[in-house]
Amino acid sequence: MTPTMTENDRKNILFLRGIIKRFYIGQPNELQILNGINLDVSEGEFVSIVGASGSGKTTLMNVIGLLDRPTFGKYIIDGVDIDRANDTELSYIRNQKIGFVFQTYNLVPKTNALKNVELPMLYAGVPRRERTERAEALLEMVGMSDRMKHMPEELSGGQKQRVAIARSLANNPAIILADEPTGALDSKTGRVVMDLFHRMNEESGKTILLITHSEELANETQRIVSISDGNITGQRPGSGQRIYHAPVHEHPAGQPILQPEEQPQPVGQPVMQPVGQPQPAGEEAMVCS
Ligand SMILES: Nc1ncnc2c1ncn2[C@@H]1O[C@H](COP(=O)(O)OP(=O)(O)O)[C@@H](O)[C@H]1O
Ligand SMILES: [Mg+2]
Repeated sequence: MTPTMTENDRKNILFLRGIIKRFYIGQPNELQILNGINLDVSEGEFVSIVGASGSGKTTLMNVIGLLDRPTFGKYIIDGVDIDRANDTELSYIRNQKIGFVFQTYNLVPKTNALKNVELPMLYAGVPRRERTERAEALLEMVGMSDRMKHMPEELSGGQKQRVAIARSLANNPAIILADEPTGALDSKTGRVVMDLFHRMNEESGKTILLITHSEELANETQRIVSISDGNITGQRPGSGQRIYHAPVHEHPAGQPILQPEEQPQPVGQPVMQPVGQPQPAGEEAMVCS
């Protein structure tokens, strides 16, 4: 056994070849939305998927998340060839191996935050006490301890998304699929959500697929995959590093989530500014000139 894993040793957790997805099959209005997608994702990789609205991102995510079967093509998830799995087996994989985060949160209404997080564990048959303890720990992790008994309608968008992220981790899945999770949030709240994804990737080794319209957020992932009209049209490496932002003092839950924001920058490390904001030095220079 090698003591350290290199990139080449990382196993492919997702393997897609020639994935085609059609709707209204056999009807005059038959549509082909995915045109033969080839994609490999390594275990522990943080990948973003970018593309115009209608390009097929959600359709691809639904195939990857086993919410929908491809019309043609090979898809192997964590060693399981989905062509050889029946619907019960696919449901099991979906429940155990995949956590979903959606743009519109998809929390169950009239059900408090704690119960929402417990739900995937209820389906998985986790005993009640263990379920509650784990849900509490996950809500604490996302800085939502003081809102556990709140109903979704009593929470802000960012708070709902943090509950949804806690829920996505309920069964400790290896893979997180996030479909525009910051799309309905202002940039500061989106930042808090993105930081949680970085933590899930760095601290727990989660494989993350993030669909986003934000170039800034995509650039922070390890690889950016571009989709256009149902085809992968390009792939490029990203930094894999979150952009350093100035401390955010008002987390909605009143609790700091991320240590790096609260700590002074280490000496010698440049402070990166958010895209589009002038450097303080540049501002001063402009005033002086
Ligand atoms: N269940 C469906 N039946 C028919 N057409 C669909 C269905 N789902 C998606 N589409 C079509 O597929 C195209 C891609 O949709 P989608 O994957 O949601 O794109 P994106 O997420 O990139 O915005 C759109 O034209 C959409 O109308
Ligand atoms: Mg979509």
